[in-house]
Amino acid sequence: MAILVTGGAGYIGSHTCVELLQEGRDVVILDNLCNSSEKAVDRIREITGKDVKFYRGDILDGPLLDQIFADEDVSCVIHFAGLKAVGESVEKPWEYYHNNITGTLSLVDAMRRADVKNLIFSSSATVYGNPAEIPITENCPKGQCTNPYGWTKSMIEQILTDIHTADAEWNTILLRYFNPIGAHSSGKLGEDPTGIPNNLMPYITQVAIGKLPELGVFGDDYDTPDGTGVRDYIHVVDLAKGHVAALKKVEANGGLCVYNLGTGVGYSVLDIIRNFEEATGVKIPYQIKPRRAGDIATCYSDATKAKEELGWTAGLGIREMCADSWNFQKNNPEGIQ
Ligand code: NAD
Ligand code: UD1
Repeated sequence: MAILVTGGAGYIGSHTCVELLQEGRDVVILDNLCNSSEKAVDRIREITGKDVKFYRGDILDGPLLDQIFADEDVSCVIHFAGLKAVGESVEKPWEYYHNNITGTLSLVDAMRRADVKNLIFSSSATVYGNPAEIPITENCPKGQCTNPYGWTKSMIEQILTDIHTADAEWNTILLRYFNPIGAHSSGKLGEDPTGIPNNLMPYITQVAIGKLPELGVFGDDYDTPDGTGVRDYIHVVDLAKGHVAALKKVEANGGLCVYNLGTGVGYSVLDIIRNFEEATGVKIPYQIKPRRAGDIATCYSDATKAKEELGWTAGLGIREMCADSWNFQKNNPEGIQ
């Protein structure tokens, strides 16, 4: 039996494929490479010494999905494929709703046709909006998203919940990721953003390598210990392992479940700069800038539910996250190619 990983050539998907293969699972990847490279699939093979089947194609392509389900013995789908750039989603809402929502509907329809009803979906802490409670438990009400990307996650969660309500044969896990950073310890896989990065850690590593002159810190007047934004950064390898744990729950006919995947610890932007400098010995010049539109002060998880029900906790600390991000950047100054 194989696990079909949509978006498996991407940042989180590729790390998850490594963990699945190392657990002895068979893996089939479907990715249209709109934000990744087939080289990432080669790197997965290099790291694990195992083969992985790769289909270059789109989750919107129903006939291709039917062919994959006919040819591969798929028992569960881990669905990472999606567009994820917040700013771009404001510029191109139609493209985001179509790719992420129509794409998920297309995938789920093909799964129905193939009678494969085990699904793990990449959601985000962004569905909590400005969270009603800190730390954020899964019972915290979903909030108002500030951009179309966030709404696609919130709406897909609702769609998958309704599909499970209508047909209890579905085992569906919604995983709400906090802020994934870090890279594989081999230095072969990591985050490979196109253009100028929007997210904090890839921006820091590009300053460290000299591609960008300095970091802008978006606001130092938040109601946080040092005034800068606080987030729950999680090592991507821990996040990947969270999917292996979720897979076991799905296979035990877990029904519909929602889990936060975070560490339960919040770090400010200045904490991250300090830890990066201490972990790597590289100085990060920065300047305080105005707040970024749509940002919130504090966002970190209560990670108890995943611990109790999945037996999963994040094991890697902030220093390892910084050191591994830097190791990947140094080894791949032009990304994965
Ligand atoms: P990524 O862009 O590196 O990976 C997504 C992959 O999906 C890419 O390889 C891309 O080529 C592929 N893809 C996109 N649309 C596709 C389509 N229509 N058909 C086939 N393939 C398609 O992003 P990531 O950081 O690995 O994120 C994976 C998932 O996790 C996404 O759904 C993202 O929204 C979600 N997520 C990411 C973060 C984060 O901070 N990285 C946080 C929360 C949730
Ligand atoms: C962002 C997205 C969120 C998405 C998440 C996934 C926005 C508004 N939100 O979250 O929807 O789910 O990524 O990873 O884009 N920062 C700086 N300077 C920078 C970049 C960031 O100071 O150059 C600060 C931010 O203000 C924030 C923290 O660093 O306080 C983390 O930012 P980022 O990495 O972009 O993640 P989020 O904003 O938490």
